[in-house]
Order: sequence, then structure tokens, then C-alpha cells
Amino acid sequence: MQIEQTNQAFNFDEYPTFEKDIDLKQRAWIEVKSEAIETNVRKLRSKISKNCQFMAVVKADGYGHDAKLVSEYAIKGGASQLGVATLNEGIKLRSSGVKKPILILGNLYTKRDLISSFKHDLMPTISSIRECLICNNIGKHFGLKFSLHLKVDTGMSRLGFESNKFVEQFEKIKSFENISIEGIYSHLSSADENNALDPKSITQIQRQKFNELLKQINLDTNNEIKIHLANSAGMLLNKDFHFHMVRIGLSMYGYSPLAKMGKNLSLKPALFLKVKVAFIRVIDSGVSVSYGGKFVSSRKTKIAVLSIGYADGVPRNLSGKINAIHNNKLYPQVGSITMDQMMLDITGSNEIRIGSTMVLLGSDGDKTISPLEWARKSNTIPWEILCSFKNRLPRVQVD
Ligand SMILES: Cc1ncc(COP(=O)(O)O)c(C=O)c1O
Repeated sequence: MQIEQTNQAFNFDEYPTFEKDIDLKQRAWIEVKSEAIETNVRKLRSKISKNCQFMAVVKADGYGHDAKLVSEYAIKGGASQLGVATLNEGIKLRSSGVKKPILILGNLYTKRDLISSFKHDLMPTISSIRECLICNNIGKHFGLKFSLHLKVDTGMSRLGFESNKFVEQFEKIKSFENISIEGIYSHLSSADENNALDPKSITQIQRQKFNELLKQINLDTNNEIKIHLANSAGMLLNKDFHFHMVRIGLSMYGYSPLAKMGKNLSLKPALFLKVKVAFIRVIDSGVSVSYGGKFVSSRKTKIAVLSIGYADGVPRNLSGKINAIHNNKLYPQVGSITMDQMMLDITGSNEIRIGSTMVLLGSDGDKTISPLEWARKSNTIPWEILCSFKNRLPRVQVD
């Protein structure tokens, strides 16, 4: 980007007045490679049978990528269902024109929320007879069947019917005339652990428990109820976890939940985090940088100020641990990451200018920085890194 000379004449009418006119790439932004989502879904689909459905999990605004955009491209790649976490996420997605079935993975427990879910054609996850009764009454009131999924807890101890009461409760639920059970599911707690294939692992015990329950409820073979258990890690483990549908988040966005999993799939990261250099200064040796003076220059140092900080979702505990890429070269971040800015040591670079674009996550040339690396350095998981990016970062679709 060319920065105007100060003595150039301005045409003031050319400059933005309204929020909508402001350049999305003015400060820091997330580029979403929509084509990567489509390709990843296709690749992942190639690992499941033709009859097995693919639910694209687009909760938390599509893991920070933009749920509407991700849904559109996941559907192009072969996803037939969508999963969100909240009623509002579901309403927003439905209102954006998405026609595929949407399952709310979180719990709705008030009559008001369940009515809203019904009216927006969203399927709630049901974990108790009480919620089932409410749904049945709503269905009865409208003279229709309320479509929903039942969840059973097999070891996560989060949502779901208690496994030892499920069989008895299912018998009761079957007699409710105004609900339509579209699915029965459970959720794996530890499929991304190294021991997940060990017969004694939590993952295998969860699968066995789920299978036993399914046997006991004795589902009629021509029923339309979809059975599902696997997240990304479960799906990549093996076919025993696939059942009628898999619910895929992380790997659809291009990351494997465990280094050794899905290597042969060459998933493509869909998210690039980019930022502009807002200012450049040169400091002498022995000068401190940023809050707390945690970094002190040991030589004459050229500093670039990047317009991004922890208020955008970059974890502050990554201060001094990350790099940015420019023209296939890595530059270290120095000093504490501040709310809206962070500093880079760009000593030796003549090509980085005010207005240059730096890559914080993603690839440039043969250099790549992954959310997996940030997660490791920040002592968290990649899911949290992806979901932390705030709305202040515009999402820009690129192909
Ligand atoms: C119930 C449920 N299913 C599926 C997923 C997708 O998991 P992953 O991102 O590991 O594929 C999640 C995500 O946390 C979830 O909560």
C-alpha cells in the first residue's frame, strides 16, 4: 500500500464518512478461504460412507470464521446438516437463508426458547423428560410434530439423559405424539487423547456404552432416527464411531485435533489473521518496549507497531512468544501485547513500511504460523484460539 505524501492535494470527497465505507483491511482482519472449507469437507467426507451424513459444526460464529460463510461452503462440499450452540446462533443462520436442518447443540429449557426454536425450524437438543413434554405441548398446540434430537450422556457429564435411565425414559418419550425424534446422540470427551484406541480408554468405554443403549432401545430398522457420536477426533479414529452422521468442527476448518490424525488428508487452514503496520520507530540499545518494560533492546532496534492486541483476541500471554511473517521472513513480537497494539522487532528489514501487511496466522511463502502453535505456546487448545477473535476484526472472504 502506498502512503500518500503529506504535500499531495487531498480530494476530501474521496475519503470515507460512514462505517460501511471504511476499508475492511484498514487495521487488522481475518481472511477466510472459503474454498478451503469446501475442500476440507470433501476430503473428510471421503473418509465416511456415502450414507453417513456430515454435520458442519458452525457454532461460535463458525469457530470465528463467519458461520454464514462457512455454512455456505460446507454445504457445497457435502455437509447436509449444521450444528450451532445457541438459539440466537440458530436464528441468525436460519434468517440468513440457510435451508438445511440446524441442530442446537446447547440446552434450551424454557418454553419461550423452545417455542422460538420451533418457529425458526431449529432442532433442540433434549436432555430430559421435562423438556420433551414442553416440546410435545408446543407441537400439539400448532398441530404439528416438533423435530428434536435426544442426547444421552455416556461419560462427558455435561448435557444428556443419564445413561442408566435412558432406556426407560425412551419408552415413555416414544409415546409422545407431537414430537419427531430426528436423532439420538452422545458426545465424546477424550477422542483426541493419545490412548483413544486403547480398549480401556474413556473413548472406547463411551462408544461401548452408547452401543449398548442403542441395542437396548431396540430401534426399528426402518426408522429415520440418526445416530451420531463423533466429533473431528472421533471421526478420524475409525469407522466404529461414524454411525449415521458425524459432527465436524475443527478439522473442517483445516486443523487436525491430534498431530498423528488425518495427516494424509492434507487439510487446508481456512483462517488467515493479517494486520497492518501502523507506525515504525528506531530505538537505541537499552530501551524498554511496552507495559512493564519486559523487553529491553540489546542493540539499536527497528520497531514496527501492529494494529492488533488482546482486545482483538490475541492472547496476552503470547507476549514475546510469537512471530509475524512478511515476504517469507519471520519477525519476532517483542514486549507485552497491549489492548490494541503489539510491537515487532523488524531490525534489518528495509521493505516493511507503515501500511505494510503482516501475517500473524496463516502462510506467506514457505512460512506458516498455525493456531495449533499459538495454542501450545499459550497453554490452551486451538478451539479456544479460534473462538477468541472478536467482532472488531472484519472477516473477509478470499478464494
Ligand atoms: C456436541 C458437539 N459436537 C461436535 C463438536 C465438534 O467438535 P470438533 O471441533 O472437535 O470437531 C462439538 C464441539 O465442541 C460439540 O460440542
